[in-house]
Amino acid sequence: MRQVGKGRNAASVVLVGLDTESVGTVREILQAEAVLPPSSVSFGDALGVIKRTRPDVVIVGMFQTMDAALALAQAVSRDEPGVVMIALADKGNADAILSSMRVGYKEYVVLPNDAPQLRQAVHDAAYKQVDEDVNGLVVSMVGAKGGVGTTLLATHLAAELAAIHRVLCIDLDFGNGDVASVLDLTPRDSLVDLLPRADRIDERMLTGSVGVHRSKVHALTQPNEYDHNAELRGDDIYSIILAAARGYQYVLVDCGSYINEPVGTALQVADLVALVTTPDVIAVRDAYRRIKSLGQLGVETENIRLIVNRNSKTSFVSIPDIEENLGMKVSAIISDDPRTVGQAMNEGKLVREINRRCDVARELSNLVAALTADPGEAAAATAAPDSGFFSRLFKSKG
Ligand SMILES: Nc1ncnc2c1ncn2[C@@H]1O[C@H](COP(=O)(O)OP(=O)(O)OP(=O)(O)O)[C@@H](O)[C@H]1O
Ligand SMILES: [Mg+2]
Repeated sequence: MRQVGKGRNAASVVLVGLDTESVGTVREILQAEAVLPPSSVSFGDALGVIKRTRPDVVIVGMFQTMDAALALAQAVSRDEPGVVMIALADKGNADAILSSMRVGYKEYVVLPNDAPQLRQAVHDAAYKQVDEDVNGLVVSMVGAKGGVGTTLLATHLAAELAAIHRVLCIDLDFGNGDVASVLDLTPRDSLVDLLPRADRIDERMLTGSVGVHRSKVHALTQPNEYDHNAELRGDDIYSIILAAARGYQYVLVDCGSYINEPVGTALQVADLVALVTTPDVIAVRDAYRRIKSLGQLGVETENIRLIVNRNSKTSFVSIPDIEENLGMKVSAIISDDPRTVGQAMNEGKLVREINRRCDVARELSNLVAALTADPGEAAAATAAPDSGFFSRLFKSKG
């Protein structure tokens, strides 16, 4: 999973036992590093708040009595060992420093002198969160346009990977998603059900909500009946993908073909973006536009993999023409096979369950290697994105 800009990596902080003045001082020092709550919580409430919100950092006032602050650190180390604890005191005191380090405080700071240490510790905590315990590879799959086969490829790639990995397929095509029907699943919870609790989601909640396919793919699907008033926020999707990347080795996101805020987020955090097109003029032209939009979202070209689906001898645009016009190597080609694929999709089966030996089944099983392989220097050797037919066409149209 990739980090997406400073805003995302602002640390989340809980303040405990601080007076209004200290809250103001801390807020001023950490304005670039952290998202701070409006006020401090009491020692009595602290553990509950920390367990519920799972912040990166807890800053604890050690002003009058140390006992409550020491007990809190012991409880947090036991229940939420990933949280960084920082003690805030009004004077340096060797005994106090030693006792606080013993119970798990990472820093003991006296402000304003130790402001740089406080800033550094909070900054490190935010980056540690994404770097150290997020191991899953996030692959977001987006269609050049609707109907090009994004769902077929996302579900089948998931099924291939699930033979040896823990895999979650997330259907982010709000209102249209077909992952549940392609995999023939009816999970208890849908992705939409998780949105209101997205900020406190963890791997356990996630695995309790997914549907499990016989290939061992876990899927977070769209509801049968979609409520068009559901609020879709990029931040919620970020929290869900983050929890997924902590709990699964691969997270495959079916982004559909319309880039709204949640899809934008899924594309930005993805380690790989698979762009699916069919070999016809309209889809390839839309793929060209998509590559530009991906660039605007900050997705690097080297992380995009181009897949051509429904290829045949009678395709309107050849593979070399697609590569030339999009300025990008094609990473994988899937043949057109309406009979087998149509049967699989209509019966809620995988293509390999219909016919293990057909070209499409073989090509789908090779998709893993094709996607994860480096597209190679050959990609750089193909035409630059602005030299092809489509760019000339679009430029001439302004
Ligand atoms: N390789 C293929 N050969 C033949 N038919 C295919 C192939 N891939 C997809 N199709 C057909 O194309 C249709 C759309 O496939 P799919 O639902 O995977 O596309 P999509 O891009 O996810 O569409 P949507 O925009 O509706 O989400 C299906 O009816 C499927 O049977
Ligand atoms: Mg789809």
